Amino acid sequence: MKAPTLRPHRTAPPERGTDFVPITEVARNEAPRAGIDPDTSLSWLRRAMPVMRAHQGIFLTSLILSFVGLVLTVQIPNLLNHAINNSIEHHTVPLSHYVWWIVGLGLVGAVSGYFARLFLFETAYDIEYDLRNIIYEHLTRMSFSFYDRVQSGQLISRANSDIRSVQMYMTFAPLILVQCSIAIVAFIFMLSINVVLAFIAMATMPFVYLTGVKMRKSMFPVSWIIQARLAEVATIVDENVNGVRVVKSFAAEQQQLRALSGAAERVQWGYIKDADLRARFTPLVQNLPQVGLALVLLFGGYMVIHGTLGIGAILAFNAYLLMLQAPFMMLGMLIMMGQRAAASADRIYEILDEQPTVTDKVDAVDLVGCTGDVRFNHVDFAYNQNAERLVLADFDLHISPGETVALVGRTGAGKSTVARLLTRFYDVKHGSIEIGDRDIRDLTLASLRANVGVVLDEPFLFSVSVRDNIAYGKPSASFEDIEAAARAAGAHEFISRLVDGYDTVVGERGYTLSGGQRQRIAIARTLLVNPPIMVLDDATSAIDVQVEQEIHAGLRVQMQGRTTLIIAHRLSTISLADRVILLDQQKIVADGTHAELLKTTPLYAEVLAQAAEFEQEADAAASDEERTSRDGNGNGLRDLLDSVRGGGQR
Ligand SMILES: Nc1ncnc2c1ncn2[C@@H]1O[C@H](COP(=O)(O)OP(=O)(O)O)[C@@H](O)[C@H]1O
Ligand SMILES: [Mg+2]
Repeated sequence: MKAPTLRPHRTAPPERGTDFVPITEVARNEAPRAGIDPDTSLSWLRRAMPVMRAHQGIFLTSLILSFVGLVLTVQIPNLLNHAINNSIEHHTVPLSHYVWWIVGLGLVGAVSGYFARLFLFETAYDIEYDLRNIIYEHLTRMSFSFYDRVQSGQLISRANSDIRSVQMYMTFAPLILVQCSIAIVAFIFMLSINVVLAFIAMATMPFVYLTGVKMRKSMFPVSWIIQARLAEVATIVDENVNGVRVVKSFAAEQQQLRALSGAAERVQWGYIKDADLRARFTPLVQNLPQVGLALVLLFGGYMVIHGTLGIGAILAFNAYLLMLQAPFMMLGMLIMMGQRAAASADRIYEILDEQPTVTDKVDAVDLVGCTGDVRFNHVDFAYNQNAERLVLADFDLHISPGETVALVGRTGAGKSTVARLLTRFYDVKHGSIEIGDRDIRDLTLASLRANVGVVLDEPFLFSVSVRDNIAYGKPSASFEDIEAAARAAGAHEFISRLVDGYDTVVGERGYTLSGGQRQRIAIARTLLVNPPIMVLDDATSAIDVQVEQEIHAGLRVQMQGRTTLIIAHRLSTISLADRVILLDQQKIVADGTHAELLKTTPLYAEVLAQAAEFEQEADAAASDEERTSRDGNGNGLRDLLDSVRGGGQR
């Protein structure tokens, strides 16, 4: 059997070109001890075996201990039988002999029971830890195209409840089987006491088992329904919390409440149905063995009266029957657990079997000594694998080291796509992208992304302090460096005014800050890493013009020799660039200085005018904090835009 391949990117480390030092810290968590067998033709349990085998030592110890404990407790009813017959009835053996034996067996049984349980749960949570890490590690390797498709709620439920049900089955199924094997031992003891009575006593057991199966069978769908409906409620709550701004701005609270109470009602129905089924079956399952007891009393009593059976045997049978009840019930449960675990495992494997599309080549090298020379060669790209509609087609672009280029185009023209391709969030379909004459697909992803810093249009901040947010890409940075980056990004001033300054913890996703403030922190975060190539994708759209110009002025001084690609709509931003390129209909349609493009390309003026309209709308919606500092510049910009619009008319 071939060994499962886990984390091929670590088992085959890329050849290190020279001295690339990863910017972020290397995680020091304990890696999972095994992976899932990648052979999809195997059954789910076989595929999970490597994980189980990684913990087999402790697991087998647990099973053996629980077997030992059960074998010991099985002796007790038999001892009771002998005690009654030999000590109480016939006085051939002193009673204390049996008492000590039973106490001793009980003690040893308790100790082994303790360790059996402890080790079993340890195995269970070890397996859970491994599975969770396997999934999470896989998720971190997945490409953007994967995240475009899947819902985060799905991933979260798979990383929680599905793992739990697989883990439960993998650890408890063998335990239940051990307990059932004890039933055989108990049955043998009963046979040794009295064959006929043993069969009479066991007569109800098949019914206990069948009732258990039936109970689980009818409860299984209900428990699935409950799970699904709980997820529904969670989704509504999640969307309400995350989308609270939208909900409130449309005064849609009542609508949301109605949706929530509807979902809550459906959950309630499920739980009541579940309780109803439980109420029907539980008394049946619990009382069926009493029938067995009655039979034992009837037939056993008859035998005792006629002198063919000792009175202790009835007591022993009584104890055995009670002992057997649990395993038989659990056997029915085991089948259902198995079905559920299989379904869960399928959901987990669905994620694990998906391969990342953007990966390091086996012989990938680190990007070192990057000068910032960027070249797009006849690039074709589409988000959808087999889409005939390309976002970029035969796209050519060369940016010289140290150049600042503005990329302009209509909304949806593919500007952000250009940025995403340069950092290999996606791979090009045809053609190539080169940095310093090296195809970026030949470079390691870590070194590529350390050299190309992107500030995305929707900056995501973590719920940690401002300082930690800025230092995200370089946790070892000194406070001086962090502050310098914040100053260059025009963020230092407002950060100092926050309650706790740099130690202020931002709310979830940074919602306690304005859009412009978030953008400035995001810029500082990238500046701190100080990449030789930087892409600003609409990164200053929510920052008012004056502050933005200060930022760019600061960037210019601080980043001499850095290659910068600015994606922007604002004239003020665009005019800072050495060169402007206009993207339309999948390729570059104009390339030159701002003034040249205004003169030669009517479309350019059109696109700018369109952007200016958006800008005015955005202006009206801008936050107070942003507006106060914008006043001084607003009119000048509008004049400029008016002149552009005039120049653009044919
Ligand atoms: N993740 C994605 N999956 C599929 N299509 C996308 C994705 N992102 C963008 N697109 C599509 O690609 C085109 C270009 O998008 P984008 O590069 O974001 O435009 P821009 O940044 O110029 O506004 C748009 O038509 C958009 O609908
Ligand atoms: Mg965009």
